[in-house]
Amino acid sequence: MKVTLSVIKADIGGWVGHSSSHPEVMGKATEMLEVAKKRSFLIDYRVLACGDDLQLIMTHDRGEEDEQVHKLAWDVFWAGTDVAKKLKLYGAGQDLLTDAFSGNIRGAGPGVAEMALEERPSEPVIIFMADKTSAGAWNLPFYKMFADPFNTAGLVIAESLHKGFAFEIQDVKAHKKITLNSPDEIYDMLMFLGAPSRYAVKRVYSRATGAIGAVSSTERLAEIAGRYVGKDDPVLVVRCQGDFPAVGEVLEPFGHSFIVEGWMRGSHHGPLMPVAFKDANPSRFDGPPRVIAAGFQLANGLLVGPRDLFDDPAFEPARQEANTLASALRRHGPFEPHRLPLEEMEYTTMAGIMKRLGQRWEPL
Ligand code: 13P
Ligand code: 13P
Ligand code: MG
Ligand code: MG
Repeated sequence: MKVTLSVIKADIGGWVGHSSSHPEVMGKATEMLEVAKKRSFLIDYRVLACGDDLQLIMTHDRGEEDEQVHKLAWDVFWAGTDVAKKLKLYGAGQDLLTDAFSGNIRGAGPGVAEMALEERPSEPVIIFMADKTSAGAWNLPFYKMFADPFNTAGLVIAESLHKGFAFEIQDVKAHKKITLNSPDEIYDMLMFLGAPSRYAVKRVYSRATGAIGAVSSTERLAEIAGRYVGKDDPVLVVRCQGDFPAVGEVLEPFGHSFIVEGWMRGSHHGPLMPVAFKDANPSRFDGPPRVIAAGFQLANGLLVGPRDLFDDPAFEPARQEANTLASALRRHGPFEPHRLPLEEMEYTTMAGIMKRLGQRWEPL
């Protein structure tokens, strides 16, 4: 059976500031998706949140980029925005860049990760959701899961993974894509993956079967809007076991904290902290950036779960590490490399300062 898993997310208002999502907004989303499940085309759904980002996890048989599915998400986000406005939540409707729906939610602000898959006899999937970071944040875990034998034992010892994986990489600024093969082309690949503000992995495919293994949201809000509205706060969907890395291999990249861009005002580097659902409420300096992992078994499109996969004491050292890194970076205050380089900053007063001080700069 061909099932489509659609994860569509948006920040439509924060409670309080940018720190979390309000239960009434989540309740509105649940109510509307329940109606769509009872009366129309949804097979199943879950409404989750990571920080101030509302996550709609939906299954159906309509394929990727389906107008009705996207319209449903769009309507839910606008209805949630009305609730957010009533409660005067912060940045109500933040990520909704237009009020007209044009047939596809892509390019309108929300993040989208969808995969149509032939459901296997057992189909474990993990949905990673992040807050206070941007689209390229998955590059490092993507590489570790699907290309690094020190992370994924199966690349070496499992026949089904031994042929490697194909990575579809997008240039989010030039709007181009390329597919590179692991392991043959990893040195070329890492040249791009190592520059996550410009290049982001969109999809990964098994080279043994051609089947899709993972898909992420690569929408760059600032690129679409042409100004800062909020960070992308991306999602990533990964199939596990069989021809793909095991659940534990997919989670393993988060066993250490690593540095991503985002955090305060979207203009800083900070450590990504893997947390349980209940701890996905970034507050220190609006962070540090968070990631949650929701595990499901798909059963004829039904979402059996979620299991809160970072709710495991084994990730405690990564959380400690993130706190240590956060404090070390915070001490730099307005200095790089805590603050992003000038051209990457989402907020800047540079133009105004240069205008005001222009006359006072003298040639050396
Ligand atoms: P089982 O033997 O429990 O199926 O585990 C295999 C595996 O993939 C462990 O990661
Ligand atoms: P969000 O992208 O999560 O809304 O955060 C924006 C921000 O400016 C945090 O300081
Ligand atoms: Mg926000
Ligand atoms: Mg957010």
